[in-house]
Amino acid sequence: MPIIYHQQSQTFHLYNQSISYLMKILPSHDLGQLYFGKRVHDKEQFDYLLELAPRPMSPCYFQDDLTYAKEHIKQEFPVLFTGDFKQSAIDVEHGDGNHLLEFVYDHHCIFQGKEKLPDLPATYCNNVQDATTLKIYLVDHLLNLELVLSYTIFENLPVIARNSYLKNHGHDPIQLHSLMSLSLDLPDCQYDMIELTGAWSRERHIKSSPLREGMQSIASLRGHSSHHFNPFLALKRPHCDENDGEVIGFSLVYSGNFLMSVDVDTYHVARVQAGIHPATFQYELKHGEAFQSPEALIVYSHHGLNVLSQNFHTLFNDHLIRGHYKGKSRPILINNWEGTYFDFNEQKILDMAKASQELGIELFVLDDGWFGKRNNDHSSLGDWFVNLKKLPHGIGYLSSKIHQMGLQFGLWFESEMISYDSLLYQKHPEWVLQAPQRHVSHGRHQYVLDFSNPDVVNYIEEMMVKIIDESHLDYIKWDMNRSMSEVYSMYQKQGRVYHEYILGVYRLYEHLIQRYPHILFESCASGGGRFDPGMLYYAPQTWTSDDSDAIERLKIQYGTSLVYPISSMGSHVSAIPNHQLKRLTPLSTRANVAYFGTFGYELDVLQLNHDEKEMIKAQISFMKQYRQLLQFGRFYRLLSPFEGNETMWMVVNDQQSLAIIGYYRTLQEVNVGYRRVRLSGLDEQKLYIINQQEYYGDELMNIGLVISDESCGENHSDFGDYRSQLFIIQEKKP
Ligand code: GLA
Repeated sequence: MPIIYHQQSQTFHLYNQSISYLMKILPSHDLGQLYFGKRVHDKEQFDYLLELAPRPMSPCYFQDDLTYAKEHIKQEFPVLFTGDFKQSAIDVEHGDGNHLLEFVYDHHCIFQGKEKLPDLPATYCNNVQDATTLKIYLVDHLLNLELVLSYTIFENLPVIARNSYLKNHGHDPIQLHSLMSLSLDLPDCQYDMIELTGAWSRERHIKSSPLREGMQSIASLRGHSSHHFNPFLALKRPHCDENDGEVIGFSLVYSGNFLMSVDVDTYHVARVQAGIHPATFQYELKHGEAFQSPEALIVYSHHGLNVLSQNFHTLFNDHLIRGHYKGKSRPILINNWEGTYFDFNEQKILDMAKASQELGIELFVLDDGWFGKRNNDHSSLGDWFVNLKKLPHGIGYLSSKIHQMGLQFGLWFESEMISYDSLLYQKHPEWVLQAPQRHVSHGRHQYVLDFSNPDVVNYIEEMMVKIIDESHLDYIKWDMNRSMSEVYSMYQKQGRVYHEYILGVYRLYEHLIQRYPHILFESCASGGGRFDPGMLYYAPQTWTSDDSDAIERLKIQYGTSLVYPISSMGSHVSAIPNHQLKRLTPLSTRANVAYFGTFGYELDVLQLNHDEKEMIKAQISFMKQYRQLLQFGRFYRLLSPFEGNETMWMVVNDQQSLAIIGYYRTLQEVNVGYRRVRLSGLDEQKLYIINQQEYYGDELMNIGLVISDESCGENHSDFGDYRSQLFIIQEKKP
């Protein structure tokens, strides 16, 4: 049992082979944080870790003990106004408007396995032996509030999953202004904070800066987790690199407004918190009502960032992603968006499908423009019935024709949105999130439906079900193309809207995946505006970015790989000149980047010449041969596009008998020397073959693979920018 409670010292020790988490019930009856990090031996008590020292200006809990101040005792779930002066984990307003709280330990329970979080995405066990859970019940006796802190430690992963829950047993209603999913006091601040930041078409670039005294935070107030800040941060020791050193990753399993912060005090204690953003959140809890926070994850690595990422990948692949496609390689798709935009008709789609099928493609996805009277982005969101002008025989006919070709068929939806120019808006203008007498901001000529209202969600569900049944869909791309502004609901108390909206999205997803377990969902929000663990619980893959340029994708996919599995990254080969940048990249490089993802094409196949078709056929058969390894192998980053002209990464199978390296050179340089790049993840003892040459694993990992201009398979006549090369590493069988 990896959770021990030491009765005498009232100490909890959660541990497995790699990590320990220690906390205790303090003399003031609240919870103190003692340690989180690499596994330590279990023992009865660790009380020497309590910082008991008299200091001027610190309010003390006991009248006669000037050493016991909450300011200096690391808190497990700090509350306001108690003499702890850093960021609090909970904020409740009650009675005459005061915010005073005093949560004391009441009881706890420990059990094998992990509970489901009602209505929220969360990690899960495949069997009860996978994890052990501790729930600690705290009570505010004056208000009769119950606070439950839940901790799950996974048996074979350095992961702790946390959530918090507040229930009002008191007579009077309270206003809940904030309930963080986790709070963790680390005893020093010698860390660099890593974030994944960006904007539309340049999502999840890796940024790192040393912690400083004061508050530092990332957040979204856009109604979705956002292109701008991902709900992830990591604290790494300054010398930690991809292969060595200590790093702690934090991730919030949530798709709406969030706040993740590190509050460093002048004693250099670093308090990390993650949860729903308090600025757009207020819940009144009446007698008997409760609020459940989303789940937050703490993931540890003592062996650098690659292992941290691999731990996240394993956790998400094995304990978050669900359904038919869990652990399964993904169909090679073609999406018509960049090939046609809104300009298509039935014949064009059928011709494209036929040509795609001949290339070996497995799934045809019809993107935006198939419904209502939609010929541009001005109309029809909300009218989820087929556009008979474009598809005169209906969606069922089109789908059956495509199925007859031996292809799967998928459709694009943007279920959460509405156009003013739609039948739905004529019928239900009150379903839009906007205030009647206030200015309305516009975004892509579309507005956000009030998904906090179950009637709206039910109505959209009915329309989607009809289309899905009619067209026997195999795949759905679920898009969301505007950030929310002037959010006001005609249905809901305003402080609840953002969160109830996300719950509405989750509910619709859950209904659809239960009803259609075979459908592959790909989430999307103008590319990667909602690439978060919450979405992965419902949709095993996400359209990584609207930027389909291979060179831009190096940074986007490299950054995304820090947290999210390769199998979750939607990646397509698109046409040149690239539509976002006008850049010209070789077809081989476009595929060499897209292989490290779900893989597909996004271009007009009818425009391809003979040579391109032959190349694409070869690419598709390569992907079919290696996709299980590419999508689910152990992934290592070797050279960073954020640090130089070259990018390199590799995947290795479990047996360490097969690996694939992707090597990419952004600009051609002149007269450069040979470089040696050390590989990772191989077996030192094994003999491997790369391009007919033999190398031992230790050689490749200690001396390195030699990279030269010739590595890109070029002779001097076809030097150039944006070149790349794959290396297949195969164990030599005796
Ligand atoms: C968003 C998506 C694109 C495409 C368009 C359609 O921008 O990210 O992939 O589906 O919408 O309007």
